Formats: sequence, structure tokens, C-alpha cells
Amino acid sequence: MKKALITGITGQDGSYLAEFLLEKGYKVSGIVRRSSTETCERIEGIADQITLRQADLLDQLSLIEVIREEEPDEIYNLAAQSFVPTSWSQPVLTGEFTGLGVTKVLEGIRLVNPKIRMYQASSSEMFGKVQETPQTETTRFYPRSPYGVAKVYGHWITINYRESYDIYACSGILFNHESPRRGREFVTRKVTEAVAKIKFGLQDKVKLGNLTAKRDWGFAGDYVKAMWLMLQQDEPDDFVIATGKTHTVQYLVETAFSCVDLNWEDHVEFDKAFERPAEVDLLIGDCSKAKKKLGWEPEVNFEELIQMMVEADLKRLQKGGK
Ligand code: NAP
Ligand code: GDD
Repeated sequence: MKKALITGITGQDGSYLAEFLLEKGYKVSGIVRRSSTETCERIEGIADQITLRQADLLDQLSLIEVIREEEPDEIYNLAAQSFVPTSWSQPVLTGEFTGLGVTKVLEGIRLVNPKIRMYQASSSEMFGKVQETPQTETTRFYPRSPYGVAKVYGHWITINYRESYDIYACSGILFNHESPRRGREFVTRKVTEAVAKIKFGLQDKVKLGNLTAKRDWGFAGDYVKAMWLMLQQDEPDDFVIATGKTHTVQYLVETAFSCVDLNWEDHVEFDKAFERPAEVDLLIGDCSKAKKKLGWEPEVNFEELIQMMVEADLKRLQKGGK
């Protein structure tokens, strides 16, 4: 039985990946940081099938200890401060979690067992002010947020450990991916939750920032398969994972409101507070390399994804859920 250790198991991707690996027959353990409140909502359904270990990306020894005791074959480093606006208000913390945290995981592997395979959650946010369209594995990075800058560091340190110590470490450059488990502050979920509340008369307006930005949005459930595939190859490599289609935030809003037959213009208000000091205007990925080498393709399209999220939020509210 193969063993996998996931950092960020309580997050959106961590929960889908844990379910996927359990189905593949893995023994799955995950790192959680100590909290005074419960953060395991997304993994409630699999709680009895996984092992949770307390550690923190800021604490090198805690990581080494968990890696030593769990003896994983594969480590998926998904933990990060992942919300872009917070990276301006907490740039140092973001650098420590999202950037240096990667080195701490790699050091753990180097010291405990360099044969462990490692996946690093890199991001299309590294392309920022895009230097070419569509973006591929060779497109030059131009990050536009402290988060993006930290991810560029994490990306390159992963490649550096691969080249310095012959560690099987891969970096997945994943474009935006969403799901009903998406954090509520990200724009897709903010909109789908608002649509459900407006439909039920629980609120009337939703305040948003820039509606013209374009993103390449896919389904998180599809994207975790790509993470696993990257660690099953003969040689480690880096891959862009994307749908190859891009839409404006406004189109997202139109699509979500049309799921419940409402006119978005009656309910959306612009609020400058949600604009960013520097914006990423356009992201669209070319995942030809992943298609060819990993045999990976996205299965859920944008409209299906938004419909799925709106329906999940309607259902949750109907049940009186949080
Ligand atoms: P998420 O929902 O925000 O989850 C982040 C996870 O990291 C949570 O489990 C969080 O734990 C954990 N974490 C944060 N700081 C930590 C620390 N110091 N020590 C230990 N754990 C810590 O993010 P996601 O959407 O699943 O994304 C997963 C990864 O992919 C992230 O690295 C993100 O930057 C990257 N990524 C995401 C996307 C996307 O569109 N979703 C695209 C490209 C790359 P708590 O539950 O305790 O907060
Ligand atoms: N969050 C948010 N809230 N975004 C808004 C809003 C709003 O009220 N109004 C407009 N937007 C715009 C943002 O300006 C941005 O252009 C776009 O919606 C998407 O914002 P987010 O959903 O917050 O995602 P992101 O693209 O900044 O970052 C996500 O994707 C990255 C990959 O490209 C995160 O998941 C990152 O962790 C990930 O690396």
C-alpha cells in the first residue's frame, strides 16, 4: 500500500486529493495546524479513513518529525496562504508560508528520505502581467502580488532541489480551479453563495470589484488527478494544468445569476474595496504538455462548474446549513 502525506489537507484541493488517493488505495495522512476552532469541515466525510498530524509550515522540526513517522512515498505540498488580497495586508507571513514553507518541506525530504516524491502547488498567478498568451511551462513569470512572488520562489526552489539533490519533485502550474468546497472569499464562491442567498430572499446585493479580469477556471476535482499523475511518471517535470478557455468575472456573474433566472444587474454593486493594488488582467493556459505526457484533460466545463456550485449553495441553504 502506497503512503501519501498531504499538507493543506483541510483546504479545497487537499480534501479532493485525499478522497482521490483513498480511492486509489493509498494510506493517506495529512498535516493540520493547531487551531482553537474546527477546520476539518471539508474532510468530515473521510475522517475515519485518514490520519491527521499536527505540524506547521513555519516549524521545520514539526515537518521533519511527521515525515519521519509517517514514512510517505509521496508528499503533496498544498498548504499556503492562498488568498491573493491577504498577501498585500500580510506580505511577510505570505512569504513565509507560501514561499519559504516549500523549502521546509523539501528540507524535510532531503534529510529524512530523498526518495520521497514531492508535488508543489505552483500557480498561474506567477504569470501575473502575462508575457505571452496562452501561458505555457516556458512563459516568463511576472508576478503581480506578494502571493505570486512567493509562488515563484516556491516554484524555483522545487526545481533547484530536483537539480541539486536528484529529488523527484514536480511543480504543477495550476490555473484557477473551483468547486462547492471553494473558500467563500474567492470570487466564484462569493458569487454562487450570494446568488443562492438572493434567490431565497436572505440578501439583495453583492458587492464586487473588477468585473473585467479574465480567468481560466476549471473544476478542482479534475485538477487533483493531474497532481497524482505528475508523481507517477519516469522523470519529474513541471506542467501547466488549465482548461484553455478564459472568461471575464462579469461572465461568471451572468452565468451564476442565470442559473436561478435572475438578472445580475439588479443585484451586483461595484465596491472599490475589492479592487487590487495590481491586477492580473488575463489568464489562459495551454495544457498541451499535460495532455500529451500525462494523458490529462479537464472533464467539467465552466458552465457546468458554476451550475454545480450554485446548486450546492442552494442545497446547503435549503438544509439550513452554514
Ligand atoms: P485553500 O483552500 O486556501 O487551502 C490552504 C490549506 O493550507 C489549508 O488546509 C490551510 O489550513 C493550509 N495552511 C495554510 N497555512 C498553513 C501553515 N502555516 N501550516 C500548515 N498548513 C497551512 O487552498 P486551495 O485552493 O486548496 O489550494 C491548494 C494549494 O494550491 C495552495 O498552495 C494554493 O496556493 C495553490 N493553488 C490554488 C489554486 C486554486 O485556484 N485553488 C490555483 C493554483 C495554485 P487551515 O485549514 O488551517 O487554514
Ligand atoms: N476575491 C474576489 N472578490 N475577487 C474579485 C472580486 C471580489 O469581490 N471582484 C472581482 N474580483 C476579481 C479579482 O480582482 C480577480 O481578478 C478575480 O476576480 C479572481 O479573484 P479570486 O477568485 O480571488 O482568485 P485569484 O485569481 O486572485 O487567485 C486564485 O487563483 C490563483 C491561480 O491563478 C487563488 O486560488 C490563488 O491561490 C491561485 O493561485
